[in-house]
Amino acid sequence: MSIELVLAIETSCDDTSVAIVDKAGLVRSLVCATKDFDHEPYGGIVPEIASRNHSLFLLPLIIQALEKAQLKWDSIGGIAVTNRPGLMGSLIVGVVTAKTLAQSFQKPLIGVNHLEGHLLAPFLKDTDYSPPENFNYPYVGLAVSGGHTSLYRIDGLGDYKILGRTKDDSAGEAFDKFAKVIGLGFPGGVKLDQLARSGHKGKGPGDPSAFDFPRSMIREDSFDMSFSGLKSSGKRLVETLSDEIIQDRLSDLCASYQEAIVDVLIAKLERSRQVLGLDHYIITGGVSANSRLRERAHDWAADHQVKIVIPPLRYCTDNAAMIGYAGILHMNQGKFSDQSLKPSAQSFIEDFKLLTGSSK
Ligand code: KG4
Ligand code: ZN
Repeated sequence: MSIELVLAIETSCDDTSVAIVDKAGLVRSLVCATKDFDHEPYGGIVPEIASRNHSLFLLPLIIQALEKAQLKWDSIGGIAVTNRPGLMGSLIVGVVTAKTLAQSFQKPLIGVNHLEGHLLAPFLKDTDYSPPENFNYPYVGLAVSGGHTSLYRIDGLGDYKILGRTKDDSAGEAFDKFAKVIGLGFPGGVKLDQLARSGHKGKGPGDPSAFDFPRSMIREDSFDMSFSGLKSSGKRLVETLSDEIIQDRLSDLCASYQEAIVDVLIAKLERSRQVLGLDHYIITGGVSANSRLRERAHDWAADHQVKIVIPPLRYCTDNAAMIGYAGILHMNQGKFSDQSLKPSAQSFIEDFKLLTGSSK
């Protein structure tokens, strides 16, 4: 008998999120508590603050998720929880809570890889969004977030081959570090995107060719990427500019820096198209919320007559709905965890296959 509905918990980093999702990926409720301003004074995520916030917010969010979906515990068929990869202190809160609920309410349990959740996010559904129909395996997936930047070949549920990945910083980290250097606070990726798109001080959108930033490994015969050179080059450039010039050219700086990241990501998608010849692609993870990346990816797909799906913004960044969908699909294929489930800072070796030629 198949499981119809799961309650899912995501606490792998700083966002606390709970969702109820059905076996077709329909999101019945999704609630999140994101407290970026608690971390902002420190210029980055402080693991102790993140785990303390999870402990404070998780139980109220679980109650809210049930109320919002107008469901009681007896209609929940299982519990899915992110148990890898992530910050240990944060993962522990989610895993211990999920195990306790599974034990108390006698529900099946499954531990989910956070990245697999991101890879399934484009296929969630709700009243305002449905993914394209007939989007079949195999396809290429680009997962770009604050913690990861990897390109996968996806041949089925749980069958993920890493084609390439960043050798150093993630694209999200590159966005956030530059945003911090130009005074946009933390996490600044979304503010950088807005400034590039809308301009500031009454000026129009930023000029993506105003400043020349490096595009490391863009032409290399590999799917791997590197963003640390870009990050250092951004910092060095800003050190040579006066505060007045930075303020005056803010949207040009944002647009030019953003273009360098987007150029590399699109080039790697194009390389995968040329090498693998597939015609289905997804982009997912926090950075897939970037408006320029979305625009360029859709243009690229139209130029090459391939299908691309990028989730709506609410499913790009960390959320429990994607964890619920991954969890329920695996449970309905007979895969479960038990009370020995543990959090792990890293993915399990069996989660992803590394294709020859890609390295970390
Ligand atoms: O997937 P996510 O929520 O968390 C991780 O798993 O890491 O991704 C967060 C990352 C942050 O680096 C954030 O700045 C970036 O996604 N991000 C963006 C945008 N929205 C979120 N980067 C560029 N443009 C955006 N619009
Ligand atoms: Zn994530």
